[in-house]
Amino acid sequence: MPLRSDDIFVVTFPKSGTTWTQELVWLIGNDFNYEKAAAKLLTERFPFLEGSLFFNGEKAKKALLDSCNGDVVKMKILEEMSKPGYEVVEKLPSPRYIKSHLPLSLLPPSLLDTTKVVYVARDPRDVAVSYFHHNRLFTLGGFTGDFEQFWESFHKDMLDWTPYFEHLKEAWDKRNHPNMLFIFYEDLLKDLPEAVRRVAKFLNKPVNDEQLERLCNHLNFHNFKNNKSVNNEPMREFGFLAENESFIRKGKAGGWRDYFDEKMAAQAQRWIDDNLRGTDLRLPQKN
Ligand code: A3P
Repeated sequence: MPLRSDDIFVVTFPKSGTTWTQELVWLIGNDFNYEKAAAKLLTERFPFLEGSLFFNGEKAKKALLDSCNGDVVKMKILEEMSKPGYEVVEKLPSPRYIKSHLPLSLLPPSLLDTTKVVYVARDPRDVAVSYFHHNRLFTLGGFTGDFEQFWESFHKDMLDWTPYFEHLKEAWDKRNHPNMLFIFYEDLLKDLPEAVRRVAKFLNKPVNDEQLERLCNHLNFHNFKNNKSVNNEPMREFGFLAENESFIRKGKAGGWRDYFDEKMAAQAQRWIDDNLRGTDLRLPQKN
């Protein structure tokens, strides 16, 4: 996939605050053009590079299309989603904004020496809970299990985009590269204005106090939840979303405690300790 020197990537493990960061990055990069942001879905402004993997193989594609029961609108949306990301981004004008959940080792080797990358990380226990709800939200995946089953698959690296810690550590190792901005979702939660300033500095874009205030207001959880350009709700009318779930869900740190019993919490702590041993990477505290 040919890269362009002004490409901007947001790279994350799923459910780490990707969408939130994408909108932040896009608005800074596009001189706070809220009208354009509202007029076009984030998924079009900021395509998902490997999103078509859900359609990988004729069998998967057929199963997804069959699930539409002949609904032409639904089928058209799925056809669009099944286009390979590298073809979609090839047609975009520069600068391109590209989202990927792939680890750095599966992205073009020259990525960091060519483009700018914002990497967002999040406590894996909150990621697991968010990912669990995500799988219940998107009904096409057919997931019906409980959280305990999901966690089992998550920490055993059996889900798409796992292994989680290799993903994280590859990015952490590159955190001092001048074209890499490594941030934690928890930092955005703690001090959004400071995170905006860091992103603006990284993108070499000035941001004044008024712009900062408006952007933080736009990115505020409640406004974001009601923003149809980013909240995936338009998918609901096509029947792709479960009734009792939503994409912009809780937006908190530490919610995992309500999902892990004592045994699971101890197992998670061991898993985290084992994976961080010998590294200087530490998860955000106060979780
Ligand atoms: P929860 O499911 O824990 O609520 P991604 O975009 O990578 O899929 O990440 C989704 C997670 O980011 C969800 O976490 C979602 O609620 C949270 N999120 C999205 N927008 C947010 C915002 N404006 N403020 C805080 N959290 C947000």
